[in-house]
Amino acid sequence: MPSALTAHPALEATERLVLRADVLDFIADPGFAPPAEAPGVRWRPDHRVCVEAGRIVAVQPAALALPEGWASVPEQDHRGRLLLPGFIDTHVHCPQLDVIASHGAELLDWLNTYTFPAERRYADPAVSRDGAERFLRALWAHGTTSAVVFPTVHKVSAEALFEAAHAQHMRLVTGKVLMDRFAPEGLLDDARDVAQAERDCTDLIARWHGRGRLSYAVTVRFAATSTPAQLAMAGRLCHAHAGQPDGLGAPGVFMQTHVAENRAEVDWVMSLFPEARSYLGVYERAGLLGPRAVLAHGIWLDAEDRAVLRAHGAQIAHCPSSNLFLGSGLFDWAQAQREGLRVSLASDVGGGTSLCLLRNMGDAYKVQALQGTRLSAWKALHAATLGAAEALGLSSEIGRIEPGCMADIAVWDWAVGEVAQHRDGLACQAGDGSVATLHPRAFAWMTLGDERNLVGTWVAGRQVFARKT
Ligand code: GUN
Ligand code: ZN
Repeated sequence: MPSALTAHPALEATERLVLRADVLDFIADPGFAPPAEAPGVRWRPDHRVCVEAGRIVAVQPAALALPEGWASVPEQDHRGRLLLPGFIDTHVHCPQLDVIASHGAELLDWLNTYTFPAERRYADPAVSRDGAERFLRALWAHGTTSAVVFPTVHKVSAEALFEAAHAQHMRLVTGKVLMDRFAPEGLLDDARDVAQAERDCTDLIARWHGRGRLSYAVTVRFAATSTPAQLAMAGRLCHAHAGQPDGLGAPGVFMQTHVAENRAEVDWVMSLFPEARSYLGVYERAGLLGPRAVLAHGIWLDAEDRAVLRAHGAQIAHCPSSNLFLGSGLFDWAQAQREGLRVSLASDVGGGTSLCLLRNMGDAYKVQALQGTRLSAWKALHAATLGAAEALGLSSEIGRIEPGCMADIAVWDWAVGEVAQHRDGLACQAGDGSVATLHPRAFAWMTLGDERNLVGTWVAGRQVFARKT
């Protein structure tokens, strides 16, 4: 297991591993159906997951004999523990580990007071490299194995993330942040020469998009910090690289940005783009929307905006921890579901206060509860695994425990500490082990659990995190 980020050697074709545990994943969206109906939930208690050369090759009941030739393969016995696909965080900022948990500001003040000063330091390649490595280790230590990531405006900060993820065969989507106005010196692309940032992006796409498990995302910070010329350039980039494969699903580069997060932000964007129908309309006009677009927040969108997103197959990355912490508002997930929007779950650290997607699920439940909807553990877990993988067009590779998928896996304890163990014991007694009676236990795990429950994390079949005790 790498303690610092020493590179994996190429995955050996013969490298094998067996994990034994209770396997939980999804084959479809459970939606907002009553939890006991558990549609789409796949529950396989006491199964073995066989891994070879970084991929899952078999999932079978522990009572069955292992495939031929596997008897001598080392087995990690996690009986009585949960084994899930590694979580997928669809919106998170690498450099913002430096400002997580900063006090007292709404979005625009928070950006100016904490975030922008911290991001300036990433101009230094050593800061970018250390930051990228610390960030990936932190993701794994929270059970996350894939992410859609904002670095900073500096080309070197994207480069550092690509390099660190590539060395570990990790599925990562990122790209240099585009911003050429309304940010301090040292954090801006050259607004007089839009071609400079375009060259940086084109160069990064040529070097990294489709290499190993990496994909490029054209990364517009948000409409306010890009001139119309830069937005148009970003749209051109998306279209110029729309056919460029990355070995998976639909070809093309991704696009990531923020939209309609905070009311003052929405007012500001509308004052900067008075001709636009809406904040989202700015992105639409620039040609930034498509099936590979990931837009964080979307709290203050209207019905027409949601229809536009749906028509483009774009997704909202819902960031409940961040929305609560920055006081941005309550995203209506049930409404988005009714209107056929794709919604994934994201930490948005450092606006969010935890990389642990379990904690973010707990926050998501509370955000929906305040609006009269009860989010199930099934819906929340699906959004952080298969749901995100499908929305990203990556479900042939991640988000499922299934032969052919990459072995991106996390093993969790059901309960840590006396209160959670007591609660888990009662939930166990009340159920009969079937999926129909499993939800109370899964929901208590989701609500009381956090990174302390995480036992181990595997990326492409290699263990990248192991709990110390
Ligand atoms: N909008 C523009 N930049 C940011 C950011 O860094 N975090 C959040 N939460 N919203 C943003
Ligand atoms: Zn964000």
